[in-house]
Amino acid sequence: MEVHTLSDMSKQIEFVADINHLRRLFIMPDSPDKFMEFGNDLLNLIHAFFTEKGGIHSSISLPELSELFSDIDLPESPHLLKDVLTEIKEKIIAHSVKVGSPYYIGHMTSAIPYFMILIEMIIAALNQNQVKIETAKASSFVERELLAWIHRLIFDRTESFYKQHIQNPKVALGNVTLDGTIANLTGLLVARNKAFPPKDRFPGIRKAGFFEAFRYYNCKKAVFLVSRRGHYSIDKIARIIGLGQDNVIKVPVDSKNKIDIESLNQICADIRHHNIENSEQIKIISLIGVAGTTETGNVDNLWELRKIADENKTHFHVDAAWGGAVLLVDKYKSILKGIERADSVTFDAHKLLYSPLSMGMILFRKETDLENIKHSASYILRPDSVDQGRFTVEGSRPFSCLKPWTTLKIFGTNGFRILLEVAFKLTETIKDLIISHDNFEAMSYPELFIFTYRFVPKEVQQQLKSLQEKMASNAANLESIRKKIRKINNMLNALNVELHRLLRQQDNSFVSRTRLESTKYYPQKIVVLRTITINPLTTPEILKEIITEQNTLGMQIYNSVSDIAKRR
Ligand SMILES: Cc1ncc(COP(=O)(O)O)c(C=O)c1O
Repeated sequence: MEVHTLSDMSKQIEFVADINHLRRLFIMPDSPDKFMEFGNDLLNLIHAFFTEKGGIHSSISLPELSELFSDIDLPESPHLLKDVLTEIKEKIIAHSVKVGSPYYIGHMTSAIPYFMILIEMIIAALNQNQVKIETAKASSFVERELLAWIHRLIFDRTESFYKQHIQNPKVALGNVTLDGTIANLTGLLVARNKAFPPKDRFPGIRKAGFFEAFRYYNCKKAVFLVSRRGHYSIDKIARIIGLGQDNVIKVPVDSKNKIDIESLNQICADIRHHNIENSEQIKIISLIGVAGTTETGNVDNLWELRKIADENKTHFHVDAAWGGAVLLVDKYKSILKGIERADSVTFDAHKLLYSPLSMGMILFRKETDLENIKHSASYILRPDSVDQGRFTVEGSRPFSCLKPWTTLKIFGTNGFRILLEVAFKLTETIKDLIISHDNFEAMSYPELFIFTYRFVPKEVQQQLKSLQEKMASNAANLESIRKKIRKINNMLNALNVELHRLLRQQDNSFVSRTRLESTKYYPQKIVVLRTITINPLTTPEILKEIITEQNTLGMQIYNSVSDIAKRR
């Protein structure tokens, strides 16, 4: 057998398309050597990507990259697989982001366990389509089992409930979705349909649409309520389902980035008051709680939100795309207290279940809620069928549930406890490093592995502090003090943007950047650096290195700006 190595493949070979050659490219029972031939090279190639020293993002510029991928002609003649693999190595792998690096602590996408690569091979090889049992036999049952596990983790209904429903095709405890966005969409679509159900001669909003629903139910508008820290997918969903983005009411947050309960109560009271005073009603389709805000990792008071949803007779959806997995650890469950009383919950596997992209889940406390979006078709999904696709927004879906199903078995909840404990410790470490450092200022209170802060040289911190003390004591020239604080913050915003740019240029580590209004400088928007510390390969020493580099670069920028200012 000829052994190909990727390194000795230089010039790409094109040849004439012929059916015998094409047939050989498909999986056939008598061709295991295909895997043998390329498997080793492929694994070496992947391994090289992980072990390669150097930057996180590759130094290629975006214009250079667009140059690499600007061939406007579709490939006409076939190419050898080995040649295309070489191209993938040189043009794609070499310029991919090392999101698994322990120095990459800026986004929710992180390291994955190595066995996920093998599981992805099984998923691709089996090529099951979860839409229907005719294309997904055992895998449909795996999906239902996983959904029952996660449902139980969240809602903890009785043992007999799960025994009865785990494989009961008449109901659906939830769906496996493409991602968290589709999970949120599914939850909120169910909420919309529940808000305008069929009644008497009205066939329901699903059939009649918003216009007829408003007419029948005497409504002038319908809204979602979510905090200002809600994920942007909620706006997208409002646009998609015809609610309109302006009807997502963004409730202010408190200093810990949690929905401000007083403001929420006030908004709800105003809506109730409007509804008493007017014949045309405002309908709250769903109150949405966030369990792990994207920017700051904070969790709304879900317990209180349930009460408010009941008072206002609305669906209560919890977006736990980020934080849901902490339920796997007994001692952290209380952070999400109240989630068990939600009507629907979004939970992503590609975040804290350490699955590769992408897979979300939507779970419903009531096993009959998904009936509100159930559909059938004559060639598949017949009304009496047991197909998973009856309940999903998507059509074809991959067997992605095998990824978290496998990880949950391999780690067990005990393994997850250890991983999440490590993540909590790392978050505490970075917070302590920042708080104890003279040149940084903490900007949020970390609950679930996300922390925000900014670079503020010690002398500027002192200026800000004394201005704030004056604000507290002196009512006379408040406006001029406020102006000075704003000016300093503008300078700091520019400084932190520049620091972030320089860090990207150095490419030794990666943290992300955002702007928050919910800091002690409210309502001024403050540029903050954002860390997400969930990679078990990251260590306290690495975090120290990262902060040391940020301090060095930050001081360089600050000193050069101060020098220019002094010279003027
Ligand atoms: C809180 C929250 N909800 C929803 C989403 C959307 O999830 P996805 O990117 O899987 O669509 C995210 C993504 O970061 C998120 O943080």
